[in-house]
Amino acid sequence: MRFCLNVDHIAVLRNARGEVNPDPITFALMAEEYGVDGIVVHLREDRRHINERDVRLLRETVKTKLDLEMAAVQEIIDIACDVKPELATLVPERREELTTEGGLNVIDNIEVISNTIEQLHDADIEVSLFIEPDIEQINTAAEIGADLIEIHTGIYANASSEEEMFDELEKIRIAAKHAKKLGLGVNAGHGLNYLNIKEFTSIEDIDEVSIGQAVIARSVFVGLEKAISEMRALLR
Ligand code: PXP
Repeated sequence: MRFCLNVDHIAVLRNARGEVNPDPITFALMAEEYGVDGIVVHLREDRRHINERDVRLLRETVKTKLDLEMAAVQEIIDIACDVKPELATLVPERREELTTEGGLNVIDNIEVISNTIEQLHDADIEVSLFIEPDIEQINTAAEIGADLIEIHTGIYANASSEEEMFDELEKIRIAAKHAKKLGLGVNAGHGLNYLNIKEFTSIEDIDEVSIGQAVIARSVFVGLEKAISEMRALLR
C-alpha cells in the first residue's frame, strides 16, 4: 500500500503565529526523503492552513506526487489547472467544519462534479473523488469519468465498537473491490492511525492511503523520520 502524507497541520502550526515556521514546504521535502510516496495538501476556500504560495512552491519542489484536495468551486479549480498537481481529490467543504466530515454526494451534485472533472482533465490532471464506501456513489463516479476514488475511512476509524469497526471494514472491502472492477484506482483516508491501520491493510484492493494527523502528531514526539518509518512498517 502506498503512503501519502498530508502536511496541512504543519501549516496550521505555522499560521498560529502568522510567521514562517514551521514551513510545510521544508517538512514535505523531508518527508519525501524519509520515504513517503506523495504529499497531500488541502487548499481550503478559507485558507485556514495551506495557502496558494504553499501549493505553488510544493509544485516546484515535490518530486514524488502532489495530491491537491479541493472543493469543486471555480476559484480553486482555476488555481489547480494553473498549478497542475498530479492528482486533484475533490472533497466536500463546509466552513464551520473542523476537518472534512464525510464523502462527496456525487449523485446529488453530478453536474458540478462532472464539469469540474472535465476542466481538470483538460489541464491533464487526474481526478479522485472522496466518497463513502457506497456502490451507487462509486458507479456514478465511474460514469462521470473519475480516474480514482478515495474511500472515506472516518466511520471505520471512529467506530465505537469492534462490531461497527468490522462492519465498516467489510463495507470498504466490498466497495474497493467493486471500484477496481470498474477500472478505478482506489485510495483511502481519514482518521487512519498507528492502531487502526493494521486491520485495514488486509484490504488488497486499496492502492494508497492518505494520512495526516496521526503521523504529524507522532512526529512531534519521535521525529518525522521515525514517525514515517513506523507507519511504513505497519503498511507492509
Ligand atoms: N483524506 C481526505 C480527503 C482528507 O480530507 C483528510 C483530512 O484532511 C485526510 C485524508 C487525512 O485525514 P487525517 O488527517 O485524519 O489522517
